[in-house]
Amino acid sequence: MNEGRDNLKVLVIHGPNLNMLGKREPELYGTTTLDEINADIKTLGKKLGIVTETFQSNYEGAIVEKIQESMRTCNGLIINPAAYTHTSIAIRDAILLLDVPVIEIHLSNIYKREPFRHKSVVADIATAQISGLGVHGYALALEGMAGIIQP
Ligand code: DQA
Repeated sequence: MNEGRDNLKVLVIHGPNLNMLGKREPELYGTTTLDEINADIKTLGKKLGIVTETFQSNYEGAIVEKIQESMRTCNGLIINPAAYTHTSIAIRDAILLLDVPVIEIHLSNIYKREPFRHKSVVADIATAQISGLGVHGYALALEGMAGIIQP
């Protein structure tokens, strides 16, 4: 069913403080840990015939470098820039280097929260945005990516 898609690679980037999922404001972000999210991404990727790589960093520069490195190797990017969503022109500029679909994702609905979270500096350059579905958003993002990704 997934023949010919085996070489398609999707990079999933998790921004700062997302390594604390499970412990971090569980009423907002739920109790699932990042390891569990990453395991589910890997399993679903295999089902969809897509190679997935996950990466988390608390450092803006490390995220920029990871995006730069993926320029020639990934066919799609799913990114939760976390707090950098609202501030990082550096991450925005790195994303602009990519010529592949980009899905921005947030566990919480950023538009229902503090006004400073309503602005995303990557939303207008992303292919799509998922916000507010908790961990289910990652499965949705990967399925959506599988539908639009190109070799
Ligand atoms: C977040 C929303 C951001 O505003 C916040 O800084 C995060 C997580 C989310 O997934 O809901 O760290 O990106």
